[in-house]
Amino acid sequence: MNSSAPANPVLELRGISKAFTGVQALNGVSLNLYPGEVHTLMGQNGAGKSTLIKVLTGVYTPDHGQILLAGQPIQPQSTLDAQNHGISTVYQEVNLCPNLSVAENIFIGRYPRKFGRIDWAGMTAQASALLERMQIGIDVTLPLAHYPLAIQQMVAISRSLLVSAKVLILDEPTSSLDEKEVDLLFSVLRGLREQGMAILFVTHFLDQTYAISDRITVMRNGEREGEYLAADLSRVELVNKMVGAAVATEVAAGSAPASATAAGKGAEPSRFQSFLRAVGLSRKGALQPMDLDIRQGELLGLAGLLGSGRTEAARLLFGADKADGGTISIEGKERNFTSPRDAIAAGIGFCSEDRKHEGAILDLSVRENLILALQARLGIMRAIPLKRQQQLAEEYVKALGIKTASIETPIGSLSGGNQQKVLLARWLVTDPKLLILDEPTRGIDVRAKQEIMGYVSALCKKGMSILFISSELPEVLRVSDRIVVMRDRKQGGEYPRGTLDETTVLHVIAAGDVNA
Ligand SMILES: Nc1ncnc2c1ncn2[C@@H]1O[C@H](COP(=O)(O)OP(=O)(O)OP(=O)(O)O)[C@@H](O)[C@H]1O
Ligand SMILES: [Mg+2]
Repeated sequence: MNSSAPANPVLELRGISKAFTGVQALNGVSLNLYPGEVHTLMGQNGAGKSTLIKVLTGVYTPDHGQILLAGQPIQPQSTLDAQNHGISTVYQEVNLCPNLSVAENIFIGRYPRKFGRIDWAGMTAQASALLERMQIGIDVTLPLAHYPLAIQQMVAISRSLLVSAKVLILDEPTSSLDEKEVDLLFSVLRGLREQGMAILFVTHFLDQTYAISDRITVMRNGEREGEYLAADLSRVELVNKMVGAAVATEVAAGSAPASATAAGKGAEPSRFQSFLRAVGLSRKGALQPMDLDIRQGELLGLAGLLGSGRTEAARLLFGADKADGGTISIEGKERNFTSPRDAIAAGIGFCSEDRKHEGAILDLSVRENLILALQARLGIMRAIPLKRQQQLAEEYVKALGIKTASIETPIGSLSGGNQQKVLLARWLVTDPKLLILDEPTRGIDVRAKQEIMGYVSALCKKGMSILFISSELPEVLRVSDRIVVMRDRKQGGEYPRGTLDETTVLHVIAAGDVNA
């Protein structure tokens, strides 16, 4: 149906408002979803996207407003209730059971029965057929955990086909997928669109927005800024509408904001002294022997696909995993890290990509989350005075533009992107000599991302070393002094700033496929 004017919306939101203590998360938001369209919701961190989706799926009850499904008012009371109305949601972190088979996961709670017993054969056949419908031919009797995250998301989506959903909602489903996986997801979504499904999609990636959307709704500060046909809205206009100021040109174009340029690059990287040197660092099944030199005051980019060995290398450097071979020296002295504690004591910080497992403690306040790593480094015997904690928290909330009611707010009530900023601050507070950043800006909006990398570059200028891991090639190319490309769990090449363009890096990354 694409951009032609569709007949009747399948779902209408009218004047939805929702307040939490101290925050008007949504203020009179209206939205129409039509069958056979991909409608993307965009806006800065904390704009209200996830809250709108939670209202729609029965997680929150709106204070005001109406939801109409095929013209009839509904009041979903839970996600299950919403699902029974034909509204299905797939979150970024797939909430399925990894140990059960794919087929069991698809049918959880609604196993097909025959003569009073579970019909396993029928279930396998139906599950296969459902996935076939999305052009995915996998063995549905294997455990879900056997498959990569992208496939797991497809399984979650196929559940929604089973309940014959009319509306499919995806809140940042692509932030942990690599490029191929995103392509796969998008081809599935296009197929579902053809079949008349209405798809509501949330992302911070501009490229993805334009690759898949028919229509875009921009949200700002809990309000609907406007609704546009994707084909009619340029990137610059889109970013302008998100941030609400005419300063967004350079963000949309992908160049550095003034602050990052000012942070600048000092001496030639080759003149920097080595801070950390790894020689032949390896671990069976995770990383082939790798040499790496990280210099003082250098921002070293580690590029490569998900699973190329980037995170594995970082974990070995941080002592989170034990190396089978190789040595690590810090400032010329050989060190043997047996745990992250040793690495932290040596001045290394590691901001991990795994927000769910290694990151935020949702019940603790922003302040408490923020001082965790610093406290760990000092040891529990040396408590940081409350006053100092408050000072630090206020300082970093301001520096990183963290949107929170106060520093005592539980981190769980912050938007996803703002939680991520707190986790980054947690490591910045420790003032490490080397900070390893593994996908630090995942889920962070397009403008905040540039501000944060500008801030990090400025810290490098003052002497901090950064190992920057990211799947977003333009960002790596923009900020790094030097880039190491990983592929197939080994080092694929090393390039100084300015010698690389995106095509070359992709080439180096892709060359690995030949040997794979
Ligand atoms: N359970 C909650 N309790 C208190 N405040 C909340 C709660 N959930 C969301 N908020 C607040 O509502 C506002 C909107 O948050 P929401 O999660 O909808 O943003 P978002 O647009 O999804 O942002 P992001 O891009 O960072 O995911 C934020 O200020 C957030 O702190
Ligand atoms: Mg969100």
